Amino acid sequence: METKMLDGSQIEEAADIIKKGGLVAVPTETVYGLAADALNGDAVKKIFAAKGRPADNPLIVHIAELSQIYSLVREFPEKARILAERFWPGPLTIILPKSELIPDEVSAGLDTVAVRFPSNKLAQALIKRSSPLAAPSANLSGSPSPTSAGHVYDDMNGRIDAIIDGGSCEVGVESTVITLAADPPRLLRPGGITLEQLRAAVGEVVLDDAVMNPLKNGEQAASPGMKYKHYSPKADIVLIKGASSDFVDYVNLHKGENIAALCYENEVDRLELPVIVMGEENDYVQQANRLFAALRAADEKGFKTVYAHCPKPEGIGLAVYNRIIRAAGFEVTDLEK
Ligand code: TXA
Ligand code: MG
Repeated sequence: METKMLDGSQIEEAADIIKKGGLVAVPTETVYGLAADALNGDAVKKIFAAKGRPADNPLIVHIAELSQIYSLVREFPEKARILAERFWPGPLTIILPKSELIPDEVSAGLDTVAVRFPSNKLAQALIKRSSPLAAPSANLSGSPSPTSAGHVYDDMNGRIDAIIDGGSCEVGVESTVITLAADPPRLLRPGGITLEQLRAAVGEVVLDDAVMNPLKNGEQAASPGMKYKHYSPKADIVLIKGASSDFVDYVNLHKGENIAALCYENEVDRLELPVIVMGEENDYVQQANRLFAALRAADEKGFKTVYAHCPKPEGIGLAVYNRIIRAAGFEVTDLEK
């Protein structure tokens, strides 16, 4: 299959592909999504094939007007209304009991559906001209999510019908996922909308165990995506917790062939090995924005081992932490101990 590169002036063409049951990669404010008509089960099946995604991992349905959600869910509780009012359009996904319109391919057999109203104008235009879109991140299953059309092309060329190039993504990590199918609401995946913001809006929100920790043997994932190895470049990521000076000293002791550091701006001058810079130490927004490109860069440069400095799990730092700890297979070297 030839994958067409489209731009923002070719939304009509992209919408035609969707209406015919094809696959289009579309920019959103978080990461690029791989979209199909959410109400067409056969089209949705192609997403799983193109990504190599396990069939038991459900997809997010994207809407471009609040009113579109009412036919997709069985209930729209008060807390959903508050969250939608406050954070949509934007990087928040809300899980609710699904309606019978949602094909089993989308919900992967669950009784719930995840819905998001993205703020990206190209994503909105495509949805308005076609239908609600089922879209996971547009990477091959397991590899870092794509934050540019080039990343999508590297993973998906020849596997999908088209890619809409909308430049690089603002947020850079996937949306925050909260389920309202549980009481109290539960944060399943941290992202651009923080736990602190969610609690300020709806009161108690539980942080699901799988956000910070590996699943225990036999434990069921509240969000099936969390049980899979994720965001992993080919390089081994070794996650280091500790103060900047301790990180620098530790990594300098471990320098060697094909070894690099994933670090902050203020550490660059003191490190004696190749570096990939994630941004300023206290600027979690910038780190989130650059993280996935940094993980891809590690592979392009052929590093075998990358020592990564761990952000604090607070604010958007929680989202960065959650992604890096998965890339590192949950192995952390804690220099504070
Ligand atoms: O920012 C984003 O959310 C991007 C853009 C494209 O919108 N999409 C994205 O989709 O990251 P994906 O499929 O890569 O991640 C969706 C996550 C998975 O971990 C999945 O298991 C979970 O959401 N999920 C989806 N539906 C669910 C449901 N009904 N119950 C529990 N978890 C669900
Ligand atoms: Mg994904």
